[in-house]
Amino acid sequence: MARLKLGILFSGRGTNLQALLDATADPAFPAETALALANRPDAGGLKRAAGAGVPAQVIDHKRYPDRPTFETALTEALTAAGVELVCLAGFMRLLTPNFVNRWAGKAINIHPSLLPAFPGLNTHARAIEAGVRFAGATVHFLSTEMDAGPIILQAATPILPTDDADILAARVLRAEHEIYIRAVRWIAEGRVRIENGRVHVADVTDDAAYYLPAGQRPV
Ligand code: GAR
Repeated sequence: MARLKLGILFSGRGTNLQALLDATADPAFPAETALALANRPDAGGLKRAAGAGVPAQVIDHKRYPDRPTFETALTEALTAAGVELVCLAGFMRLLTPNFVNRWAGKAINIHPSLLPAFPGLNTHARAIEAGVRFAGATVHFLSTEMDAGPIILQAATPILPTDDADILAARVLRAEHEIYIRAVRWIAEGRVRIENGRVHVADVTDDAAYYLPAGQRPV
């Protein structure tokens, strides 16, 4: 069967990009990386894309007069590469309804919190400050609101009293890498549909609806 063609958008070091590159390097994985696309020429993830031997491109937002022209360039590159699913992996540019509507149901994001809590920047510091006991990560479909949209999969991780934002971020990041691949696999297998703003996954196993790293299961 044809593998789903991914376009992975990133702005920085690209560890989520790497997780997707590693997964899609396996011919048995139901998706392949058709394009890795950065909006910054200094994005560390570009080296990862080169290392994986996948097509990579920089579309520097600074070279465009406004968001619509930048986003048109993104869509042109993604379309030219035959991309079927856009995966935002630490892509730190707000996307306007122009782009979001063009890719409706075909674009997903990962965010390092249990959305709808703590969207936006400084997620981990804000979670610690709020005194919540669990952090986590969310994979969701893109919507016109930042870090919002139908939730596909979440992972929960504890916040320990000794955590600072960096320690917590590292713990959550490991969970991010695992759930991003899992969510992409589900979509590529055609098991994910959105109904009334909620995501349903066909043929879920016991660990599908909840994902707790380190072998934990909901009690
Ligand atoms: C990740 O933690 C990702 O969830 C977050 O940026 C980081 C990128 O790291 N994304 C957001 O905060 C989106 N609002 P990476 O470049 O190593 O994947």
